[in-house]
Amino acid sequence: MQQIFVANPKGGCGKTMLSIHLAAYYAQRGLTVALCGHDPQQSSLDWTKARPSSMPNITGIRFYQHEILSNRFDIAIHDLPAAFGAEQLASILKEHRLLIPVLPSPTDIKACVRFLMALNRSGLVESNAQHIGLVANRVNIRTNYFKVLLAFLNQVNLPLVGYLRDTQNYVRSASVGLSIFDLPQRSVSQDLNQWQTILEWLEENEVPSPFMQQISDLLHV
Ligand SMILES: Nc1ncnc2c1ncn2[C@@H]1O[C@H](COP(=O)(O)OP(=O)(O)OP(=O)(O)O)[C@@H](O)[C@H]1O
Ligand SMILES: [Mg+2]
Repeated sequence: MQQIFVANPKGGCGKTMLSIHLAAYYAQRGLTVALCGHDPQQSSLDWTKARPSSMPNITGIRFYQHEILSNRFDIAIHDLPAAFGAEQLASILKEHRLLIPVLPSPTDIKACVRFLMALNRSGLVESNAQHIGLVANRVNIRTNYFKVLLAFLNQVNLPLVGYLRDTQNYVRSASVGLSIFDLPQRSVSQDLNQWQTILEWLEENEVPSPFMQQISDLLHV
């Protein structure tokens, strides 16, 4: 069973949004999906409860027990709580992918620096760098903060695997148990395009080179 973990100690950076979207993407592709909400707020599980029965099913799980569930699912997405520490990621990172959403704001960048430093100190980055991907979330590419975030990510030895714009498409769809992957393509085509590099990285392990070129161009404008 494939597993994807989404973590960042900073609250509100988009862990639940990324998790529910990954769950919906794989469910739309016909996989049996577990969405594991480790967060005390249980936001992911509220979302699975609100999901219309006409949509591909996603099983919300509160207390994930690998031995019991691994035969039932093709993939498990883990929405980790803000309190989840770097040291707890050690065993996970050897085998599985970790996505770290980060917002382009000074406080979020600082919090992300601290989290990445803790990952670094624990030796996790060095041995598992290919399993860790950063996603810039709620981005407006014209703002200085996004450029500051790009410059920071350029310094750390981890790939930016995608960026997602700030749009009510995420808020509105989530409020009724949906994701942009469940909506008519034409209404969310810009957002679906932005997800492509993230999904490719999860499948291929490499950030597509046109995307890296685009990021490098943005850094030098
Ligand atoms: N790209 C986006 N555009 C617009 N709104 C977004 C975007 N990403 C997330 N949001 C909204 O921002 C809020 C916080 O996102 P989310 O709940 O996913 O963060 P979180 O990291 O899970 O927070 P917590 O640490 O509290 O669990 C939510 O209302 C979500 O709908
Ligand atoms: Mg959350």
